[in-house]
Parts: sequence; C-alpha cells; structure tokens
Amino acid sequence: MNPDLQKLHPYPFEKLMQLKAGITPPAEKPHIALSIGEPKHAPPEFVKKAMLHQLDRMGSYPLPKGIVELREAIAQWLVNRFNLKRTSLDADKHILPVNGTREALFAFAQAVVDRSLDAIIMMPNPFYQIYEGATLLAGAQPYYMNTTADNGYLPDLDSVDPKIWQRCQLIYICSPGNPTGAVMDIAYLQRLIELSDKYDFVIASDECYSEIYFDEQQPPTGLLQAAVAMGRDNYARCVVFHSLSKRSNVPGLRSGFVAGDAKVIQQFLKYRTYHGCAMPEFTQHSSIDLWQDEQHVKANRDLYREKFSKVVDILSGTLKVSQPDAAFYLWPETPVDDQTFARELYAQQNVTVLPGSYLSRDNSNNLGSNPGANHVRIALVASVDECIDAANRIIEFSNTL
Ligand SMILES: Cc1ncc(COP(=O)(O)O)c(C=O)c1O
Repeated sequence: MNPDLQKLHPYPFEKLMQLKAGITPPAEKPHIALSIGEPKHAPPEFVKKAMLHQLDRMGSYPLPKGIVELREAIAQWLVNRFNLKRTSLDADKHILPVNGTREALFAFAQAVVDRSLDAIIMMPNPFYQIYEGATLLAGAQPYYMNTTADNGYLPDLDSVDPKIWQRCQLIYICSPGNPTGAVMDIAYLQRLIELSDKYDFVIASDECYSEIYFDEQQPPTGLLQAAVAMGRDNYARCVVFHSLSKRSNVPGLRSGFVAGDAKVIQQFLKYRTYHGCAMPEFTQHSSIDLWQDEQHVKANRDLYREKFSKVVDILSGTLKVSQPDAAFYLWPETPVDDQTFARELYAQQNVTVLPGSYLSRDNSNNLGSNPGANHVRIALVASVDECIDAANRIIEFSNTL
C-alpha cells in the first residue's frame, strides 16, 4: 500500500464520534447537530424539476471538460459577481466544472506538485482537512500558518521565512474562512499575488463560502478580482474554487468549478482525464439554472442573517464570540478545553458542536501551539428555531461550568 496513507490524520468527524461514544444524552431534548457544515435550508424547487427533465442524459458518458453551456454560464457568473472583464475570461481555457470543491481541492495538489523537488504546500491552521490530506498524498510537506484573533484570523504572510516561500509550490487559502469566517480583503490578496510572482507558486483560493455574507453591499472579494484590479488579465498562478453546495443548498448535487490560470487549468484537465471524474450531464444542465439565478441565493443569505443576529445575541453575554465577516460558522472561545466542552454539552443538552482542536494542528512554526484549542465550531445550518433552541441550551450548559 502507499505508505503516505499512514500519514493521513483521522477526519474530524471520526474523532467526534469517538468523543461522543458511550454517552446517552437526555432523550427529552431532541438532538441538534451544529457540527457538520452541511447546509440545511431547502434547495430551490426549480433545480429538482430541471434535474428530472435532464435524466435521459445518463445514457452518455460526460466529458471531463464539461459542456460549453455550463462553462459559459460560469464565466458570466464570475464576470458579474467579481467584476471581471468578460474578454479576460475564456470559457474554453479558464474554467473547468468539478464535482464539488472537495474532490477538486484534493486532486489539484496531485496535478500541481513536482515531487522531485523538496515541495512545501502552505495552508491556514485551523483548516479544511482536505488541504492537508492532498498535501501528504502529493508527497509534499504541509506548512501550517496559524490564524488567531491576534492576526485577524488571516495567515501572517510577512512572517514567513523566504526559505519557506522558495520551497512553496502551492498555497491553499480559504476566504471566507472555515472555521473562522474571516475574509481576505483586496490588499491582502494582492500581497499574496505579489509573493506568488516572486517565488513562483500557485494559489488555490477556496471560495466555496463566498456567497454567504451579511452585508449585501459588501460581498467578499475573490482572488481573480484582486488580480484584475492589479491590471492583470491572465490570472497567472491564480486558481479559484467555487461550489453550489453552500450557495444553493445542494451539497448532494456535487457541483462546482475551478477557474483561473489557463496553463494550470489545461494541465489540471489532463490530470482529470485520467482521474475520470467528469460531472454527469444532468448535473451540468441543472447547475446552469442555479448559476443563473441570484434570487434564491439572496433568500438564503436572509435566513443566515436572521440566525446570526439572534444566536450571537443569545451567546455573547456568556461566551466570547463575535459575528464573523462571512460564512455560516461561529468560532467562540470555550471556558474549558474544547473537547470537554463539546462532550459535556452533548451529554447534558444533546447539542453537537465540533472541538476546534480537531480542525487544526499543533504548530511547530508557532511554538507548538494549537490555534483551534479552546474553541468550538458551531455551524448555524439548522432552522432558525433550532439554532435559537441550541443557543439557549449552550448558555444553560455554560452556566454550569
Ligand atoms: C472550506 C471548505 N472547502 C470545501 C468544502 C467542500 O465543499 P463541496 O465539495 O461541497 O463544494 C467545504 C465543505 O464543507 C469546506 O468547508
């Protein structure tokens, strides 16, 4: 077997299952899961109908490159959303549909990394664990960059040793971030693009939460947008990852895309041809309808806005918590260690949250500290009423500590 498989860490939800094993929570309190980042709002009705109309298409093999109609719809969405020049984006060269960002984020490292060099892949810490698994299976070394309240939950780019940047072949960034919700502004993204020019590495910008934000006048900036604002239109070394999962509440549809640097996309397509992960044509056609509609996305944001306002209000008197810039997570500090907090909350209140230390590593670059310790991730994905109920139970529990 591939010895690198031994390097993979158990997934956070495996650890959570073990943490909860053997506990019987009070049966009179219905279980509320705030641990998984799986959207629970209803998918738009029109996508179900669209899918039914397209099912006959399962009679043919889909191509890895996807259908041109979908790539064109995605190009137009990118132009509208991120203020790009339509002429700078060629649906044939800059865009590839993928089966959700997870598989693409993983596969991307396998395509990008040159194993013959002493490769480093950089990533935030805490992180989405796929970045780390992709790194280890690509034969590279992960370099963790702590994101804490002290640095505004954004990796401190200027504290990294030039020797590390020289070995860096790929960096994963996540904005809005999971779990902190922090958004990278345009100056931050442009600083990173300058570093990628200087040291020649690829930026994989995970923007799957870009459509979950609170201020309708201030949607989060994207990496391609930052590149264009620097006067560039070739997107060199910049690749973004987008998804319908959170934007349109269809995590089961498995639909997203990657877009950016034409040379990188071309090589990634070559990789994907062998990987054999083309998106089914009925999914592609249904996805077009979703990328072309913003009404359901705005309605989705309205629901999150209501939940965050009510839940932050309830929690903030007792826990150290603040409204994030974007995305659908809260990242409060816990008055006791995070595993104890999560386990006892489940035992007493039948509410599941995820210990922050399961999402991050002890970081030898920062004196061995684990930036997820003493935090929990609370995903506000359930209904408004359930989230309010859960928040009240979290307070009742916290008051016993
Ligand atoms: C940061 C981040 N990236 C990517 C994904 C994967 O989403 P999908 O594969 O559904 O697009 C998730 C899912 O929770 C996530 O939190």
